Amino acid sequence: MTHAAPPFDVTRIREDFPILSTRVRGLPLVFLDSGASAQKPRVVLAAMTRFLETSYANVHRGAYHLSEVATEAYENARAAVARFLNAATPREIVFTANATAGFNLLAHSFGPSCRAVVVSEMEHHANLVPWQMLRDRAGVELRICRVTDAGELDLDHLASLLADGRVGLVSVTHMSNVLGTVTPAERIVAMAHAAGARVALDGSQAAVHRRVDVQALGCDFYVFTGHKLYGPNGIGVLYGRLELLEAMPPFLGGGDMISEVTLSGFVPASVPARFEAGTPPIAEAVGLHAAIDYVSAIGMGAIEAHERRLTDHAMARLSALPGIRVLGAAQDRGGVFSVAVDTAHAHDVATLLDRRGIAVRSGRHCAEPLHARFGVESTCRASFGLYTTEAEVDAFADALAEAREFFR
Ligand code: ALA
Repeated sequence: MTHAAPPFDVTRIREDFPILSTRVRGLPLVFLDSGASAQKPRVVLAAMTRFLETSYANVHRGAYHLSEVATEAYENARAAVARFLNAATPREIVFTANATAGFNLLAHSFGPSCRAVVVSEMEHHANLVPWQMLRDRAGVELRICRVTDAGELDLDHLASLLADGRVGLVSVTHMSNVLGTVTPAERIVAMAHAAGARVALDGSQAAVHRRVDVQALGCDFYVFTGHKLYGPNGIGVLYGRLELLEAMPPFLGGGDMISEVTLSGFVPASVPARFEAGTPPIAEAVGLHAAIDYVSAIGMGAIEAHERRLTDHAMARLSALPGIRVLGAAQDRGGVFSVAVDTAHAHDVATLLDRRGIAVRSGRHCAEPLHARFGVESTCRASFGLYTTEAEVDAFADALAEAREFFR
C-alpha cells in the first residue's frame, strides 16, 4: 500500500524551521539565501542531538556495541543517499566534506585519466578551480563551454568542443547558482557519451529543488552538498558509477582508506572507504539522512511544483520593475534570481534589504567568470527554499524598487 504525501502547505512547513519565526531588527525574517545555505528543520536538529546523546562513537573502528550502532547509522545514511539519487548500490556513494571536496576528489582521482576536460562559463568556482589546478599541475587541457545570452549552455559549442574525441570528462552544473538555469542533463550526457567522454554534474542546487535519478540521467558522477539540502554543514556526496570509482586511485591518504599498510607502502581499501580517509562526518551523516527523509516525505515533486509557482511569480514581478536587470532567462529555470539595480552597487542594495529584514547574497556568488560574461560587476541574489512564500518574493521585489529610488 502506498501512502500519498500530504498536500503542500507552506505555512505548516515553515513551522518545522525554528529560525523562520525569528525577527531581524524587529521585523519578520525574510530568508532568501537558501542557495548559499538552507535553514534546518527541527527533525534534522533532533536526529543529530539524539544520535550524539545516545549512539555516538567513531565508525568502522570499534568492536564494541556503541561503535557498531554508530557504524550502522552512518551506513544507513549512505543507503538513504543511494535511494535518494537512485544509485545502483550504496557503494556508489562517497561521503565528502562538501561539494567542493567532491570536485577536488574527482579532479585528483579521475582528472589525470583525461586528455581534456570541459566545464562551462556558468560554473561555481568549486567546479572550475579544481580543473584549472589539474590543468596547471598535470597538463590536462581545460575547455570552456560558452553560455548563451539567455543563460543556457551553448550546446552547439559543446558539440564542437567534443568533436575531436579528446575529452575525457564534461563537468557542468545541473542548476546554476546564479542564473537558476537547469541544464539539459540527459542531452549533455548523450552528447558526451557519444564522444567517449564521461559526465559529472554539479547538483549542489538541483538536488535541493528537483528529484534526481542518476540512472535515468545516465551521468557518471553527481556531486551535491548536505547543507543546502536542509542538512548539516560538513558533509557532501560524490556519486560515481561503481566501475569508475573502482578504477580510481585514492585522493586523501590516512586511516580507514587502506586495507593494509606497512612502512614501505599501502594497499587501498575497496570503494567507497578508499575515498573516505580519516574520521568521517558521522553525526552529519545522520543529519543528512534525516534531511533526506524530511524532503522525501514532503515529496520532491511537490517541492518542485511549489518552487515553480514561486519562480513564475518572481519572474513576473521582477521583469516588470524598471531599472532592474535579472541575469539569465533560461526556458528551464529554478528559484534563483540574481539582479542588478541600475542606480546602486549590489552590496548597498543588500544592506538596504537587510534593513527590511530581507537576507540575500550580494557579490559574485563564487561565479566571477559568469558575472564577467554578463558584463556585471556584482549582483544581489535571492534564492528560494521549500519554505519560501509568495509574500517573501513580493517583499524582495518591493524592496528592490525602493532601493532603486533610494540610491538614485
Ligand atoms: N555556493 C554557495 C552559493 O552559491 C555558497 O552561495
